[in-house]
Amino acid sequence: MSNYPTLEYDVLVIGAGGAGLRSAIEASAAGVRVGLICKSLLGKAHTVMAEGGMAAALANVDDRDNWKVHFADTMRGGQYINNWRMAELHAKEAPDRVRELEAWGAVFDRTADGRILQRNFGGHRYPRLAHVGDRTGLELIRTLQDHGIHQGIETHMEHTVVTLLKDGDRVAGAFGYDRERGRFKVFKAKAIILATGGIGRAYRITSNSWEYTGDGQSLAYHAGAELIDMEFVQFHPTGMIWPPSVMGILVTEGVRGEGGVLLNNEGKRFMFSGIPDAYKAQTADNPEEGWRYTQGDKNARRPPELLTRDHVARCIVDEVKAGRGSPHGGIFLDIAWIKEKLPNAAEHIKKKLPSMYHQFMQLANLDITKEPMEVGPTTHYIMGGVRVDAETQMSNVPGLFAAGEVAAGLHGSNRLGGNSLSDLLVFGKRAGEFAAKYSKESSSSQINDVQVEEAARQALEPFERSVKATGTAEGPYQIQHDLQEMMQNLVGIVRREREMTRALAELDQLWRRAKNVIVHGHREYNPGWHTALDLKNLLTVSEAITCAAIQRKESRGGHFREDFPNKDSSEGKMNIVVRKDADGSMNVRRENIPEMPPDLKQIIEEMK
Ligand code: FUM
Repeated sequence: MSNYPTLEYDVLVIGAGGAGLRSAIEASAAGVRVGLICKSLLGKAHTVMAEGGMAAALANVDDRDNWKVHFADTMRGGQYINNWRMAELHAKEAPDRVRELEAWGAVFDRTADGRILQRNFGGHRYPRLAHVGDRTGLELIRTLQDHGIHQGIETHMEHTVVTLLKDGDRVAGAFGYDRERGRFKVFKAKAIILATGGIGRAYRITSNSWEYTGDGQSLAYHAGAELIDMEFVQFHPTGMIWPPSVMGILVTEGVRGEGGVLLNNEGKRFMFSGIPDAYKAQTADNPEEGWRYTQGDKNARRPPELLTRDHVARCIVDEVKAGRGSPHGGIFLDIAWIKEKLPNAAEHIKKKLPSMYHQFMQLANLDITKEPMEVGPTTHYIMGGVRVDAETQMSNVPGLFAAGEVAAGLHGSNRLGGNSLSDLLVFGKRAGEFAAKYSKESSSSQINDVQVEEAARQALEPFERSVKATGTAEGPYQIQHDLQEMMQNLVGIVRREREMTRALAELDQLWRRAKNVIVHGHREYNPGWHTALDLKNLLTVSEAITCAAIQRKESRGGHFREDFPNKDSSEGKMNIVVRKDADGSMNVRRENIPEMPPDLKQIIEEMK
C-alpha cells in the first residue's frame, strides 16, 4: 500500500454542483458509502450561473405544454445531433425532479393560484422555466445541500483530483490533493461519478469561475473514456463586458424572458432581421407581439431575442462587426424600456431580476431600471463531453459514470437555456442510482501503487524542475493566459480551418511550455502549483475542442464555420468521437448517430 491516506467508498462523486449533489443523494439513499469531492467550497458551483430557471413541462402557465413538446424543442435546439434517448428521458422525468426539489424545500416563484411559476426562455415553445427570481441555480444548490447533509455523505472540500486510478479496464479510485495543505490522498472506490462541470476557463471571456478547467473531461479521457461533440461550445449571448474586471459574468436570459430587448448603437432592435426558417412561424415580426408574448399572451409569437443562444450570439457578433456595437464592443440589452408598458416597471424589474439589478448596480454603477446594459457573448457551457449510456450514465470505462455538463448527449449542438438544471437533476439521479447498483454488484477494486507513485511524481515535478535543466523559468499563469487568448481568438464563436490549424500548432507549443513549467514555494495553499496542475486539463480539452472543430465541416448549433457556413445533412448524422490512443496521441473519428425510433420521429414531425 502507498503511504498516502486512503479513503474507501463504494461510490465516489467528483464535483459538488447540482449533478454531483443529486447523484450523491441518490447513491447514498441506495445504502452505499458515498464520498463527495469538491474543488472549491461546498455550494460554490457553476450551477448557480443557471440563473433564469429549470426547464420542465409542468404546464402550469400554458396547458398546451407536455413532455413531447419539450422533447421536440430540445432536439430542434440541438439541431438533431442530440442523443434522442437522453432527450426523451429528460423531457419525461424533469417535471418529477422539479416537484421533488420542491418537496425538499425549494421555494419557487408562484402563479396567482399557487402553483410553480414558469417563464419564457429561448427556444422553448411555452413558458417552461420553473424559477426563483434570477437565483434558481442558487436555490437548487441550497436545497440539495440541505437535503444531502442528512444523508451521511462524506464531503471533502477544497480537494482536487489529478488522476483516476484503474484496476485493469475498470476504474478503481482517484488520486488527488487537498488544496490547503497540499497533502496527497488516495480515494478508493468501486464506482466513480464525474460531475465536474465545464471548460469555460479554456477561454478568456467566460461566465465560469476558476474551478472550470475541464477536469472531468480530461480525467475521463486519460482514463480511456470517449469524448463526443467537443466542438460544440456554447457562447451565451449576454455576459457583462464592462468594466473589464467583471467581463464575462452572466446576464441571465431571464432579462429577455421578462421583456428585455437587444439594441444596436442606433437604438434599433436588430434581431428582427435574419430569423432562421425553422423558427419563422413561431417568431414575432413586430415589437408589440413580442411584448405580448413575454406577458403571457398565448396567441402571441416569441420575440426574436428569445431565439436559441447560438443564433443570438452570432447576430451580436455580426452587429458589432458591422460597426453598430456599443462603446466597449458589445450591444445594449434594455429592460428599462418596459416603463412604457408598466406603471410600476422599476419595482417589477427589481422583483423579477433582483440579482441582475444588484450585479449592475454594484459592479458597473448602472441602474438597469433606468439604463440599458452593455453585454456581449461569453463562454458559458460545453455541450460535448464524456460519452455515456443514456439510461445509466456509465462511460465506456466500467465503473466510470458522468452526469451534468461533463457528460455529453442531451443537448446536441446547442443547449436550450434552463435545460441544464433539469439535466443535472434527471441525470444526476440516474448516475447515482446506477453507480450504486454497479458498486453493489462489483467486487472490491485494487489500487495499483505504481500508478499512485507515478501520479505523485508527476504532480511534484513543477517544484523539482530547475531553470538550468529546462532552460526556462516560466510559471503557469502566462501559459494559461496565452492558452485562453489563443482559444478565444482561433477557436471561438466564428471558426475557420486555417485558424484552427494554427491553434493546433500553438497548442503543441503550449504543451511543451506546460511540460517545463516551474513553481516556487511549498505545497500549502500554493495557487501557482494548482494552476500548473490544471494546465494538463485545459490543454487536453482545448486540443479535443480544436480537433473536433476541424473535423466537423459544417455549421451547426454552437459550432459555426465561416468556411462551411451551412448545415450538411451527412455531417448532421455524425458524432465526432475523441479518444486517447495507446501511444498517447489524440484519436479523432466520426461515428454514425443511431437512428431515431419511429415514435420519436413522429413527435418531431407533429411538432413542426
Ligand atoms: O441565462 C441564464 O439564466 C442561464 C441559464 C442556463 O444556462 O441554463
